[in-house]
Amino acid sequence: MTRIVDPSDHQAEDPALRPKNLDEYVGQKNVVDNLRVYIRAAKARGEAMDHVLLAGPPGLGKTSLAYIIAEELGVDIRPTSGPIIERGGDLAAILNSLQPREVLFIDEIHRLNRAVEEVLYPAVEDFRIDVMLGQGPGAQSVSLPLPPFTLIGATTRSGLLTRPLRDRFQIQFTMEFYEPDELAQIVIKSAQRLNIELTEEAAKELSHRSRGTPRVANRLLRRARDFAQVEGNGIIDLDIVQLALSRLGIDALGLDGMDRRILDTIANKFDGGPVGIDNLSTAIGEEANTIEDVYEPYLIMRGFVQRTRTGRVLTRRGKEHLGIIESAGPLFD
Ligand SMILES: Nc1ncnc2c1ncn2[C@@H]1O[C@H](COP(=O)(O)OP(=O)(O)OP(=O)(O)O)[C@@H](O)[C@H]1O
Ligand SMILES: [Mg+2]
Repeated sequence: MTRIVDPSDHQAEDPALRPKNLDEYVGQKNVVDNLRVYIRAAKARGEAMDHVLLAGPPGLGKTSLAYIIAEELGVDIRPTSGPIIERGGDLAAILNSLQPREVLFIDEIHRLNRAVEEVLYPAVEDFRIDVMLGQGPGAQSVSLPLPPFTLIGATTRSGLLTRPLRDRFQIQFTMEFYEPDELAQIVIKSAQRLNIELTEEAAKELSHRSRGTPRVANRLLRRARDFAQVEGNGIIDLDIVQLALSRLGIDALGLDGMDRRILDTIANKFDGGPVGIDNLSTAIGEEANTIEDVYEPYLIMRGFVQRTRTGRVLTRRGKEHLGIIESAGPLFD
């Protein structure tokens, strides 16, 4: 049987490191400030909060935030995800079981199929589902009321959402990459939770080499802990971080092997670009979707790659980082 509510996404993450409420949620100030208002207002009215769409690259805290919203609203959350819901009836069953004001969290919402989206539209718009009774010429469509609920959708690709679906979210946020000082706060907190000794310098170094992404920062912290245990005295200091990162093939700006391979391929196989995503994907041997969702956003944010109408182009900064041309100055401001 298909599992409608798939916990694997949630379990892959270390629950101990997940922020539990808005106060513990570091960064994304604009998102958090606005959410506080919407949550308070909805609670004061005793109503379900408006539907929320959270968009942004992987590991920036969308799932964490969905759980936090439910927590702050004081309601239960029903997690599921786009690819898991196969048929309209599957979604109808979930919707039917919701309690008033509960949160329905649909991860990877851009991967819902058409038939399921059709069930979702009236549900989010008017809190009802349309069900067909009977078959053939005598079949009748009846509308069943649903309790008011809050849909939270998360996506790494808001551009792939159909327009009608996107328009039904009254609240839409795009998550930004985190600043180094925010990532430093996150790893320091994580180290405390995991009982790891971490120097300030080490936290700073990790924060600059985590691709602006909390999930990466926490992952690097764990790897650094391994090196501290085996090759050091258990304490994560600057030397240990540098050792761990160099063993992991992570460079001064936090780019890993695949990041550099992308830059390198555009530089050498495609003469600096422009190159279309499909050609790039074939040359690298990585799926186009993965390049677009996981790798490119950070490379673009850093100004190494540009997306143009004719394809991806390696920028001057990108060339500097590869050492193809001499650097005009430090890359960190
Ligand atoms: N704002 C934050 N403050 C502290 N820790 C955070 C924050 N955001 C994310 N994290 C950490 O990063 C981990 C990954 O975050 P999360 O799973 O919420 O990302 P996501 O955006 O849902 O990623 P994906 O697109 O891959 O599903 C969390 O488990 C948590 O440890
Ligand atoms: Mg997630």
